[in-house]
Amino acid sequence: MIGKGDQLAREIEKVTGSPEATWDLGRELAATLRAGHVLILTGDLGAGKTALVRGIAAGLGVKGHVSSPTFTILHMHEAGRPGGLALNHFDVYRLSDAQAFYDNGLDELVGQEAVSVLEWGDRVREALPREAIEIKLTFGQEADQRIFKIIYPDQDERGDL
Ligand SMILES: Nc1ncnc2c1ncn2[C@@H]1O[C@H](COP(=O)(O)OP(=O)(O)O)[C@@H](O)[C@H]1O
Ligand SMILES: [Mg+2]
Repeated sequence: MIGKGDQLAREIEKVTGSPEATWDLGRELAATLRAGHVLILTGDLGAGKTALVRGIAAGLGVKGHVSSPTFTILHMHEAGRPGGLALNHFDVYRLSDAQAFYDNGLDELVGQEAVSVLEWGDRVREALPREAIEIKLTFGQEADQRIFKIIYPDQDERGDL
C-alpha cells in the first residue's frame, strides 16, 4: 500500500561497538555520497563525530589526515584521485549561529563539487541546504557503544545504507 509515510523523511539506525566499527560505517556511508551532498553531525563531545568523518574520508579516498578541526572551523581535503570527490570537513562548535557562518563566507564552501560534513552542524542549520542528511550520535549503554540515527530528507534519491 502506498501510504503517507512515503512522503516522510527516512531514518536508519546503526549501532557500533568500537571506533573501528564507526570507521567502517563512515566508509559505507561514503559509498552512497555524491558531489554536493551535505551531512550534519550532531552529538556531544566524544560521541564519535570525528571518528565517523575519518571513515568517510577513507571511503572517499581523499588526501590528508582527518583531525578535529575545532580550532580551524574547516579542513578542506582534495580528492585523492582524478574524478574523485573532495571533502570539506567543518567543526562549527565555536560559531554562535547561522549569521556567523555567513559572515565567515562558509556557506559558499558548502555544496558545490565537494561532500560537506559539519560537526555540530545544527548550530548553523538555517545556513545549510534543506536537503542535508542529518546524523544524530548518542552514547549507548556500553562504554564503546555509539548509536547513529541517520535521517534522510524527504523524497531523497540517495541509497540507504
Ligand atoms: N563506537 C565508537 N565509535 C566512535 N568512537 C568511539 C567508539 N567507542 C569509543 N570511542 C571513542 O570515543 C571518542 C570519540 O571521539 P571523537 O570522534 O573525536 O568524538 P567527537 O568528534 O564527537 O567529539 C574517541 O576517543 C574514540 O576512541
Ligand atoms: Mg570532533
